[in-house]
Amino acid sequence: MTIKHFLQFRDFTRAEFEHLFERTRVIKQRFKAYQTYHPLVDRTLVMIFEKSSTRTRLSFEAGMQQLGGNAIYLNTRDSQLGRGEPVEDAAQVISRMSDLVMVRTFEQEIIERFAANSRVPVINGLTNEYHPCQILADIYTYIEQRGTIQGKTVAWIGDSNNVCNTWLQAAEVFDFNVHVSTPPGYEVEHERAGLFGANNYEEFADPMDAARGADLVTTDVWTSMGFEAENEERMKDFADWQVDADMMRVAAKDALFMHCLPAHRGEEVAAAVIDGPQSVVWDEAENRLHVQKALMEYLLLGKVDN
Ligand code: CP
Ligand code: NVA
Repeated sequence: MTIKHFLQFRDFTRAEFEHLFERTRVIKQRFKAYQTYHPLVDRTLVMIFEKSSTRTRLSFEAGMQQLGGNAIYLNTRDSQLGRGEPVEDAAQVISRMSDLVMVRTFEQEIIERFAANSRVPVINGLTNEYHPCQILADIYTYIEQRGTIQGKTVAWIGDSNNVCNTWLQAAEVFDFNVHVSTPPGYEVEHERAGLFGANNYEEFADPMDAARGADLVTTDVWTSMGFEAENEERMKDFADWQVDADMMRVAAKDALFMHCLPAHRGEEVAAAVIDGPQSVVWDEAENRLHVQKALMEYLLLGKVDN
């Protein structure tokens, strides 16, 4: 039997995302009305963190509890993972004691090896290459605020990192455009981004050109987790890639600003933007909870429609 995993954005079809978004709407509405919804009683989620987290841990742990199940947190430091136990062995054991696993790790190859040896669905909670749960929340947030994202333009300013790669995959699934502007030497790597090649993105040398007319402007830290050794060099290389008020002014009049968080005000984003009226970063963060509840429901129970 094939097990459904969510290891990168393109693992799901547009129809599956549309189902997830409809379920997110229902689950969020019930949560806001304090209605108990416990479809996952006796189910256990194991969360493996090889990197730090606030939002991902909190949203998965709280989400699983709110659905009636349990969540167990493991990290590299306190488990045998940090002492060289093969990922294949860890996957065999962990997946015999749980119903669902979320993994935050370094190379995508690690989570793929884990999934290949798992008896239960595996969710990518961020790798060096991708962050699919983040973009699930971001697209839900966009739709909630503005309606369909099809045909719209998203400006990605900064590093072509895991979040950027996932936006590029999502653009192929939902048929929108991404205008990417990175400093020289940090351009999108096509292979690494895992694209089908549908030509949904364009690269701009000048970030102002990328932002011009965009419906959504988004960015992320200049130095992602695991790349700390490059921090000093990146601070210099990315200095002109800050999303500031001038950049928001050239975007569409009703453009939104998003950031996956954590953010560094004065580096990749000006305080006036992230704390300004176009920013939807708190809704975006909250929606991690709701979309991931829909995702866990789908992976464990299939297409529920109650
Ligand atoms: N956006 C996000 O994944 O945040 P955390 O690193 O806090 O989980
Ligand atoms: N690109 C960032 C995202 C953090 C949520 C990182 O990988 O550190």
